[in-house]
Amino acid sequence: MNENLALNVEERSLPESDLRWLASFANALSSVGYQPTIAALFPLYPWRQELPRLANIPRPALAACVDLFFRGKKVPIEELPAGIRPFLPKLADLGMLVISPSGVASAERFVLNWSHGVLLWHERPSATMTLYFGPESVALGLRIDPEVGSRVLDLCAGPGFQTLVAARKAREVVAVEINPAAAGLLTLNAALNQLTNIKVICADLVDVQLEGRFDMLIANPPLVPIPQDISYVLCGDGGPDGLWVTRKILGRLDDWLTETGRIHFVGYSYDTSAYGPLAQDLSSACSVDMDLLMVVTGTFDCAEGTPAFAQLVSSLVMHGKADRQTSSVEISNYIKAHDIKWLHCFHVSGQRSSAPRISVLDFGQTDYGGWFA
Ligand SMILES: C[S@@+](CC[C@H](N)C(=O)[O-])C[C@H]1O[C@@H](n2cnc3c(N)ncnc32)[C@H](O)[C@@H]1O
Repeated sequence: MNENLALNVEERSLPESDLRWLASFANALSSVGYQPTIAALFPLYPWRQELPRLANIPRPALAACVDLFFRGKKVPIEELPAGIRPFLPKLADLGMLVISPSGVASAERFVLNWSHGVLLWHERPSATMTLYFGPESVALGLRIDPEVGSRVLDLCAGPGFQTLVAARKAREVVAVEINPAAAGLLTLNAALNQLTNIKVICADLVDVQLEGRFDMLIANPPLVPIPQDISYVLCGDGGPDGLWVTRKILGRLDDWLTETGRIHFVGYSYDTSAYGPLAQDLSSACSVDMDLLMVVTGTFDCAEGTPAFAQLVSSLVMHGKADRQTSSVEISNYIKAHDIKWLHCFHVSGQRSSAPRISVLDFGQTDYGGWFA
C-alpha cells in the first residue's frame, strides 16, 4: 500500500489529470455531506470518542462514505453513492484503499479528515504510525496567520495540515518532510484541496538547502521526551527533553527568516521550576534575535507516580520498543538527574527583533489542560 505513495514522492508532484480527479473526488464527497458531518466532531479525537454517534447516520449513502473513509470499516462498493464509485479504483491505485475481489472497499490505514476548511488524509493512530496528525497539529493550525501573498516554510510538515491551512493565504508554502511516505501524502492532500502553491521537499531539515527566505516559519516537530537509549517512532521522538529537533530548527533561523520574519511552533518539554529555564533555553537556541511569546496551555507535575509520568511511560511502551519497566526507569532517572518538576505543553510565536526577549503567558494550570487552555 505504501509503495505507491513513495512513488509519488519521487516525482514530488502529481500529473495534471490526478490533480483534476482528486478535486472532483473532494466535490463528490461534499455533495453527499461528508465534510460537515466530520466537522461536527473536530477537534476531539473523533476516531476514538465519537464512533457511536457516527453509527447512527440516517442517510445510507453518507453513512457508507463515513464508514469507509473515516471509520475504517469494510463497505460493499454498491452501498457507496454513485458519484463516489468511479474514484475507488484510482484511490486503490494510489494506495489509499483496498478493493477485494468480491467488491468490498476498505481504508483501514488512512482517515480522511476535515478540519478548518481542509480535507486531510492521515494515518489512523497505531503503535507504528508515521503519517501523524494529532491534537497539537490542530493547535498549531489554529494559531498560524500568514499574511496574504507571503512565503511560508513548514518544517516537519507530515501529511500537511498546517501547510494546507497556510497555503490558503500565502503566495507559496514550502513543506520540508523527511519521511517520503508523509511527503507523498502531503502531495495528495494538496491536490485534494486544489492548492497549487505548495512545494513539497523530502529532506532532513538539518541540512536542507532552500531557495530564498520566508516571511513565516511553522513547525510541529517530533516533541515527545524520549530517553536517549529508547527507540521511538520518528514522528514523535523529540530526544531526552523533547526539544532535539526544535533546537535544530531554531539554530537555522538565520538561514530561513526574512528580516521581519515570524515563527510559530509547538512543544512539549520539561522544566525545573515554573517557566524558567525552559523559556530561556528556547530563546538562546535561536540563531537570530527574536521577540518571543510562549503560551503555556498545559502544565503537569511529572514526578514518578503522577498521571503525566504514567502517560509518558505508556507512550514509550506503545510507540517505542522498550518494555514498561525499562521505560519507567529511564524516564525516572532523567527526571531525577535534571531536577525536573513539570511537563509543559506550549506554543511559541515570535518575530525577529533587535531587542530579544521571551515572555511567558501561563494558562497551564487551567482545568482543560493539553493543547487548548
Ligand atoms: C509531530 S509530526 C508533525 C506532522 C504535521 N506537521 C502535523 O502537525 O500534523 C513530526 C514530523 O516531522 C518529521 N520529521 C522528523 N524529523 C525530521 C527532520 N529531521 N527533517 C524533516 N522532517 C522531520 C516526521 O517524519 C513527522 O512527519
